[in-house]
Amino acid sequence: MIMVRLLFFLLLFYQPKFPTSCSQKTTTNENFIHCFIKNTNPDDDLSHIVYTSTNSSYASILQAYIKNLRFNTPKTRKPEYIITPLKKSHVSTAVLCTKSCGLSLRIRSGGHDFEGLSYISDIPFVILDMFNLRAIDVNIDKQTAYVEAGAILGELYYRIWEKSKVHGFPAGICPTVGIGGHISGGGYGNMIRKYGLSVDHIVDAELVDVNGRILDKSSMGEDLFWAIKGGGGANFGVVLSYTLDLVYVPERVTVFRVMRFAKDNVTKLVYKWQHIMEDIDENLFIRVVLQPVTPKHNGPTAVRVTFISLFLGGAEKLISLMNSEFPELGLQKSDCLEMSWAQSVLFWSNYENETAMNVLLNRTYNAAYSKRKSDYVTKPISENDLELLWKKLTELEKPGLVFNPYGGKMREVSDLETPFPHRNGNLYKIQYSISWKEAGENADKKYINKIRELHDFMTPYVSNSPRRAYLNYRDVDIGVTHKKYFKGNFDKLVKIKSIVDAENFFRNEQSIPAIKSAGKKQKMEYAIYFTKCLCLVLNLNLW
Ligand SMILES: Cc1cc2nc3c(=O)[nH]c(=O)nc-3n(C[C@H](O)[C@H](O)[C@H](O)COP(=O)(O)OP(=O)(O)OC[C@H]3O[C@@H](n4cnc5c(N)ncnc54)[C@H](O)[C@@H]3O)c2cc1C
Ligand SMILES: *[C@@H]1O[C@H](CO)[C@@H](O)[C@H](O)[C@H]1NC(C)=O
Ligand SMILES: *[C@@H]1O[C@H](CO)[C@@H](O)[C@H](O)[C@H]1NC(C)=O
Ligand SMILES: *[C@@H]1O[C@H](CO)[C@@H](O)[C@H](O)[C@H]1NC(C)=O
Ligand SMILES: *[C@@H]1O[C@H](CO)[C@@H](O)[C@H](O)[C@H]1NC(C)=O
Repeated sequence: MIMVRLLFFLLLFYQPKFPTSCSQKTTTNENFIHCFIKNTNPDDDLSHIVYTSTNSSYASILQAYIKNLRFNTPKTRKPEYIITPLKKSHVSTAVLCTKSCGLSLRIRSGGHDFEGLSYISDIPFVILDMFNLRAIDVNIDKQTAYVEAGAILGELYYRIWEKSKVHGFPAGICPTVGIGGHISGGGYGNMIRKYGLSVDHIVDAELVDVNGRILDKSSMGEDLFWAIKGGGGANFGVVLSYTLDLVYVPERVTVFRVMRFAKDNVTKLVYKWQHIMEDIDENLFIRVVLQPVTPKHNGPTAVRVTFISLFLGGAEKLISLMNSEFPELGLQKSDCLEMSWAQSVLFWSNYENETAMNVLLNRTYNAAYSKRKSDYVTKPISENDLELLWKKLTELEKPGLVFNPYGGKMREVSDLETPFPHRNGNLYKIQYSISWKEAGENADKKYINKIRELHDFMTPYVSNSPRRAYLNYRDVDIGVTHKKYFKGNFDKLVKIKSIVDAENFFRNEQSIPAIKSAGKKQKMEYAIYFTKCLCLVLNLNLW
């Protein structure tokens, strides 16, 4: 074990001689292509791997996975190249050639980043688009799934459904979200209270590091493996795949979606919801969606509250649970629909009852202009303050809120287990959301200001010092206050980053800094940490 550790440390210093080079003689453009040709198998057809703006399919490939129209304007800077690897080795070549040509790299899987960080940049850049690498292999004997980064959640759920009606995976609700970004950033869905996050079920991963090496769990080492379970993939390398542990789901689950309005005492309902969800049966998830709505017949705008639920069990059991814990909601048997878990995925994506399961394989998601923000709530908001919130929501007219309950399994996993730190003590997470249809900077400004105003309004009611946020709900307003995303885990992420990518090649507007690019104090801390580690290894080795 000690020898292995020592070897690991030595490996970190061993940088293989750079096999690629970007010759200085010609333009960057020719160099990059040249580098790619030189480092790819001659049998590989580069016309389906490397795209420049002169290629006819460049624009359609670029736009296929732009999921936020804010970043699809004539002014938006376009990539010098788009690389669409067909094999893992192409990913290595892309990393090495991008690095040696001094370009910046953006990695895109599903393209759902709320701030477009997987496909925009202020400096000349390359998009490494993973959509061709999307193989999925579900193994029911082992109860695992090997999933490549370019797959979407819908494809994963579909491949599980093909093989088993009693297995599922706890990940996001929208089927078009990509594995690469979603899982490296945490990943939660409506089984969070029963099974925790996606990152709580990773058994292996493949990653291309800054030197183009393809690593797996054992060759990347415990720390790097830990880092890509919620620390944000784009900080440490290119995730090629995750191997996931499937979870058990019953053959029949129950869902409901009920709407309540002011006349239904929504304040009392939401107030009560805040108190019961932490401890309630972990098979139950009830999301609360708050939206200002203006009635068709011109009444005043008012807040509509939708309770959407997944219960991992039958309707009778759910009704009796609700009657004892949350009778105020007035849930009726007729509100409840029993179905398979896979059908519940469609229900949650707002598909009509009896839609064919293969819609999960549809990778298209109709983009809008949008902005999202997030918050964590650690103590219930009072009825009075909820009333003020309803007033604020109707005044602003547009942004909506989604409350996602925690508790259950989330209380049992330590904040240090993965980089995702928002576990025990959080009652629920808030997602702020606003979408619009008008193009232009004025519209962007107008709507972004509204969501910021709502976020400011919520300050007294949410976590503080630091006010926390969910990495996968990317929000550039946070700047580089990384502790909001990672709390105490940030320091460890910096240490790992500094070891595996000291030159800070894998970077974006919110990436984890490497010590080289960090302040003096951090450098000092890092030096001390590193010396300690080295001493530890050497000492132990002497024994
Ligand atoms: C409609 C919608 C619904 C959503 N629902 C949920 C939900 O239910 N639960 C939830 O937890 N989140 C949800 N999200 C947020 C989602 O998890 C994140 O946006 C996630 O990062 C998207 O992953 P992606 O691969 O689609 O995005 P991308 O934009 O491709 O990537 C996001 C980030 O990850 C990096 N990245 C992508 N692929 C790789 C890779 N292979 N290796 C290394 N880094 C990589 C990118 O560079 C970027 O920084 C939702 C988002 C949207 C737009
Ligand atoms: C794409 O552009 C490159 C560089 O301009 C060119 O060499 C190549 O032939 C083009 N490929 C296709 C398929 O048009
Ligand atoms: C709302 O609350 C009041 C007072 O607690 C109660 O009398 C009334 O029946 C409630 N209305 C509904 C629709 O539950
Ligand atoms: C779907 O709709 C049909 C016809 O209305 C109904 O019989 C069936 O029970 C529904 N299934 C679910 C799961 O709601
Ligand atoms: C896929 O989804 C998109 C967006 O919802 C839709 O417009 C399109 O028709 C769907 N394609 C198929 C083949 O169902």
